[in-house]
Amino acid sequence: MSNPSLLILAGDGIGPEVMNEVKKIIGWYGEKRDLAFDVEEDLVGGAAYDAHGTPLTDATMERAQNADAVLLGAVGGPKYDTLDFSVKPERGLLRLRKEMDLFSNLRPAQCFDALADFSSLKRDVVAGLDIMIVRELTSGVYFGEPRGIHKEGNERVGINTQRYTESEIARVARSAFELARRRNNKVCSMEKANVMESGVLWRQVVTEIHEAEYPDVELSHMYADAGAMQLCRWPKQFDVIVTDNLFGDLLSDAAAMLTGSLGMLPSASLGAPMANGRPKALYEPVHGSAPDIAGQGKANPIACILSFAMALRYSFDNGDEATRLEQAVERVLADGKRTADLLGPEGGTPISTAEMGDAIIAALDASI
Ligand code: NAD
Ligand code: IPM
Ligand code: MN
Repeated sequence: MSNPSLLILAGDGIGPEVMNEVKKIIGWYGEKRDLAFDVEEDLVGGAAYDAHGTPLTDATMERAQNADAVLLGAVGGPKYDTLDFSVKPERGLLRLRKEMDLFSNLRPAQCFDALADFSSLKRDVVAGLDIMIVRELTSGVYFGEPRGIHKEGNERVGINTQRYTESEIARVARSAFELARRRNNKVCSMEKANVMESGVLWRQVVTEIHEAEYPDVELSHMYADAGAMQLCRWPKQFDVIVTDNLFGDLLSDAAAMLTGSLGMLPSASLGAPMANGRPKALYEPVHGSAPDIAGQGKANPIACILSFAMALRYSFDNGDEATRLEQAVERVLADGKRTADLLGPEGGTPISTAEMGDAIIAALDASI
C-alpha cells in the first residue's frame, strides 16, 4: 500500500521558516516510527502570485483536492497589500477553504504549564486551560454576496454580506457536538442574535440540532461580545465554543494570548469524508506570515508543528503519535527553551526557529 500523501504549501513570510521544522519532524516519523508520507510541495499566496500571477493556480487546487492532507504555513505580506483584491495572497487560502469545503475549523487553545506564568492573564486564569474553538470556515461575511466597493451618488460604499443557510449552521454545530462528546461534553454557541438575523437563525438551528441529536451534551448560548469578555475573564468555563467565520477569527486570536503567544496556536480545517474515509483536511497555524520578524530565524515553529500533530490525529487516526509530538513540545518548554515571542519583559536568551525544531526532535528521540 502506498504512503499517505501530504501537500505542503509553505507560503510567505515566516511560513517557509516554520514549515522547515515540520519537514524535519515528518522526516523523523518516516525514519524512526515507520510512518512515512509521500510529500509534495507547491506554492500558495504571494509566492504563487510572484511565480504565476495568481495566489493559487488551478493545478495546485487540484493537487490539494487529491492530497490526503494539506499543510499550510502562512500567506500575505506588505509587498502584496496594494494588489487587486482578486489576486491578494489571502484569496489563495480562502479559495482552498471554500473549494475543499472545509467548513469546520478546529482551533484548540491549550495552556502548557511551563507557559502559565507567561500569559498576559494571571496563572490561575489560564493554568490547565484546554478549550476548542470551532469556527465555521466556508460561509458568513467572508463569502456572502453582494460584496464590493460601489459608488452611491457622490460617495463610495463598501459592502459585505453576512449570510448563513440552516444546513451550513447545522453541519458545523454537529461537528462541535461530536467533539464535545469526546471532551467535556459542553458546547457554548456564540453569535449576536440580539442584532443580527443570521444570529437568530444560528441560535435556532443550534438549539434544534441539540434537542434532536445531542440532548446529552450541555449547550449554552452567549452573545459574541460577551463571549470575548468571558474568554478573558474566566476561559476555563468553556469546553467547546462554536461560532461563525468572523467571530471565530477574532475569538481565536484572543484565545491565543491565553496560551502565551500566537506562535503556539495550531488549527485543523476539516470537511466531509473522502472516498478513503479521511476527511478533506488542511492544517495550518492560526498566525500569519509575521512580516515584522520574517527572514530572521526568530519565528516560533510550535503552532505549525502542533498543526502537524492535529493532522496525525484527525487525518491519519494516530492519536498516540499526535500525543507523542505534543508531549515532546511540552517537554522542551518545560526545559525552559523559548523562542523570542515566549520571553517576557525580564528577558532571557531566545533560541532560533531551527533550534526549537531540533530541540523538539531531540525530545521525540528521547520518547522512544
Ligand atoms: P501575524 O499573525 O502575521 O502577526 C501578528 C504578530 O504576532 C506579529 O507581531 C508577529 O511577529 C507575531 N507572530 C505571529 N506568528 C508568530 C510566530 N510563529 N512566532 C513569533 N511571533 C509570531 O498577523 P498580521 O501581522 O496581522 O498579518 C500579517 C500578514 O499575515 C497579513 O498579510 C495577513 O493577512 C496574513 N495572515 C495570514 C494568515 C494565514 O495565512 N492563515 C493568518 C493571519 C494573517
Ligand atoms: C486566519 C487568517 C485568515 C482569515 C486570512 C489570512 C484570510 O486571519 O486564518 O485566521 O481571516 O481567516
Ligand atoms: Mn485570523
